[in-house]
Amino acid sequence: MKFFADTAEIADIQELAATGLLDGVTTNPSLIAKSGRDFKEVTREICALTTGPVSAEVVALDHETMMKEAEILRKIADNVCIKVPLTIDGLKTCKALTSDGTMVNVTLCFSAAQALLAAKAGATFVSPFVGRHDDNGFDGMQLISDIRLIYDNYGYETEILVASVRHGIHVLEAAKIGADVMTAPPSVIKGLFKHILTEKGIEGFLADWAKTGQSI
Ligand code: E4P
Repeated sequence: MKFFADTAEIADIQELAATGLLDGVTTNPSLIAKSGRDFKEVTREICALTTGPVSAEVVALDHETMMKEAEILRKIADNVCIKVPLTIDGLKTCKALTSDGTMVNVTLCFSAAQALLAAKAGATFVSPFVGRHDDNGFDGMQLISDIRLIYDNYGYETEILVASVRHGIHVLEAAKIGADVMTAPPSVIKGLFKHILTEKGIEGFLADWAKTGQSI
């Protein structure tokens, strides 16, 4: 499963990229606002930190303006992936851009039927938001299973990008279902490395090693 960082914070992306385990980055207008940075400038910097896709979201609601915004965004770097909302205009834009070889991430997906439409529109990625789904009393992981089944039934190549990930269990369940990608805040990704028994194990081994008086 590919790991994307869901952030526009350069220092966090640099830290994760240094592990060699980062496959891409996703941003959204809220994350750009939180960073306090200029959208195009920060997107350019992020694109230089990974060879993987970097999602940059359009903010227009109509197809024509979405296409204009996408044209500006895709010129930033070769690895920019245009993010469009799951609306009729968003999917029209998706179809036009992917037909032209541009990567597209269809975001704000909350139903399997919507994910089917995104695949039919040729989306490179579809982003079902599991955390927000759970927050509203739905079963986010059931949504991922349903999309996996539908895509496998028809051999759709659109990658399932599990988004709105809140904790390690989301990551684990997404991997068990066979999602292609997950995007999570850096704190969630860093949390995956940790286990109390790993820490205790290191502590015990180092204490015993000290008793040997040796060095490597
Ligand atoms: C996905 O691309 C979105 O940026 C993101 O996962 C939204 O997550 P949130 O529900 O934590 O805002």
